[in-house]
Amino acid sequence: MAWTRKDLLAMRDLEPGEILTLVDTAASLEEIASRDIKKVPALRGKTIVNLFYEPSTRTRTSFEIAGKWLSADVINFTASASSTTKGETFVDTAKNIEAMSPDVVVVRHSASGAAELLARELDCSIVNAGDGAHEHPTQALLDLLTIREKKRHFEGLQVAIVGDITHSRVARSNIHAMRKLGVTVTVAGPPTLIPPFIGELGVKVAYRLEEAIRDVDVIMMLRLQHERMAAGLIPSVREYSRYWGLSLDKLQKHARPDVLIMHPGPVNRGVELSPEVADSHYSVILDQVSKGVAVRMAVLFLLAGSRSSEGQVRA
Ligand code: CP
Repeated sequence: MAWTRKDLLAMRDLEPGEILTLVDTAASLEEIASRDIKKVPALRGKTIVNLFYEPSTRTRTSFEIAGKWLSADVINFTASASSTTKGETFVDTAKNIEAMSPDVVVVRHSASGAAELLARELDCSIVNAGDGAHEHPTQALLDLLTIREKKRHFEGLQVAIVGDITHSRVARSNIHAMRKLGVTVTVAGPPTLIPPFIGELGVKVAYRLEEAIRDVDVIMMLRLQHERMAAGLIPSVREYSRYWGLSLDKLQKHARPDVLIMHPGPVNRGVELSPEVADSHYSVILDQVSKGVAVRMAVLFLLAGSRSSEGQVRA
């Protein structure tokens, strides 16, 4: 399916064919990572700005590597070292960045809707690299690429997403994407960390870890997002870990032997995931990170590489 969008804001917006175009393009770009010279000229002369208002290890680094491997010029903006600290607004900052003629702005912000706001205000392409508890579309894409490589298909797969569902943009993007591709999704966690209307997204809900992980093909464990959490949602981290932490013992007792363990990172070892599970043969956590570069190359290529110098999107 031809890519015609100016921006990548949310998995909720995309047709199944568009999701598969992104995943297929990423799969075709993966081999660049194994070359001696990791450089192709696809985005030569293009400029990408990483506009990050929240901390990031994986997303920001992989967007930078992706842009550089495609020969684009990549500029990293860090809010804490910018004139934001002198009172400049988010939109004013973005408009000033746009006045320097970037082709793509990759934005991460604590406010849900921040990427959509910039997409309305700016003419250049906007990529949502995580907006509050709303969406993180490129994380869902790299999760899909990882799952397809291991399981070969999407239709009919069963996935459990476990942990702090309420504050997770990763859960929301994956739920939208997976449901469109025929995957059955169960979310699980303490009732205080499951949004009351989550069933409207077409997912099942489980309130016991053992029930959630039985017979599924993939278990995606999530971090407690203390930075977005009001006080009192869990009695203590120790108790959370006891009931919702995935140990090797629980995994081997209740899950399938061919289950994949995924985590978007950062992992809090010993809280949601024991170190034995994180480092086990079940875990594809570092595969997810590697595939993040291919996915971000695909996104940058489809957004910036398919637009002509007149700003028209090629059919
Ligand atoms: N998965 C993810 O978004 O990680 P970072 O916060 O390190 O970018």
